Amino acid sequence: MKTAHSLAEFTQMRSEIDGATAFVPTMGALHEGHLSLMRLAKERCESVIASIYVNPTQFAPHEDFDSYPRDLEGDLALLENEGVDLVFLPSEADIYPSGPAARTKSGCAAEGLESKFRPHFFDGVATVVSRFFEIVKPAHAVFGEKDFQQLQVIREMVETGGLPIEIIGGPIARDEHGLALSSRNEYLSAEELEIARMLNQIVYKAAENPTEDVLKEAQEMLLTAGFERINYVAYKPEWNRVLAAAWLGKTRLIDNCSIKKAD
Ligand code: PAJ
Repeated sequence: MKTAHSLAEFTQMRSEIDGATAFVPTMGALHEGHLSLMRLAKERCESVIASIYVNPTQFAPHEDFDSYPRDLEGDLALLENEGVDLVFLPSEADIYPSGPAARTKSGCAAEGLESKFRPHFFDGVATVVSRFFEIVKPAHAVFGEKDFQQLQVIREMVETGGLPIEIIGGPIARDEHGLALSSRNEYLSAEELEIARMLNQIVYKAAENPTEDVLKEAQEMLLTAGFERINYVAYKPEWNRVLAAAWLGKTRLIDNCSIKKAD
């Protein structure tokens, strides 16, 4: 596995890869969810490129950019083990040559849900992902369904921009209790972890019959379980999903589930 610590190094190493590549962007603190995407990429393509970059423009000033978990050495060992060919570790100047600002506007998929609570978020994601696409020039790019709205925002960006990139969505990797794996789960205390594991159960239940009443009831159930603040439990018919976001202590958790139509 090759590791590029700058854009110049990356450009050189990228030029040595022949044929189509699959790209998996990450912010590091890698877990099984990220690694499952590397495997999907590997299935699709001989050559896999990953990036690790904690993108400042998708964090608001009050959010956890500074404390976001970072473990470069551990991450590189995991990626090497998955057979990743090239890892890009850009500097801020590589990604934002004229300073970190969100310059790419996200489309309709960004409206509502996450945007209501993190208004800056999707423009930051769209900006960094489009910059990565420009540099990496992948044939395929893999994103997780864990961040379902993000996946839709990126699909829309590629479609409206006519980019020649196939976007592949990877299923949500969960722990043995069903909790969606997340780098931010590291913030949870043992007690909070127990509560966090209720989120997927409540979202799954709501997805059986996502009426207004059921969604409201799901919010009540989250509060009863010990979540302190519910951002949303919502049904998006066009995505066939129930999506939720809620706070537990200083950790914000998200999850989603496809609609299970009763037979
Ligand atoms: P990050 O949170 O590191 O996630 C990188 C990729 O891993 C995303 O596509 C995300 O959806 C996926 N992922 C995270 N947890 C997962 C899980 N439990 N199962 C399956 N996939 C999972 O998402 C980002 O970084 C950033 O916004 C990024 C796209 C890199 C742009 O900065």
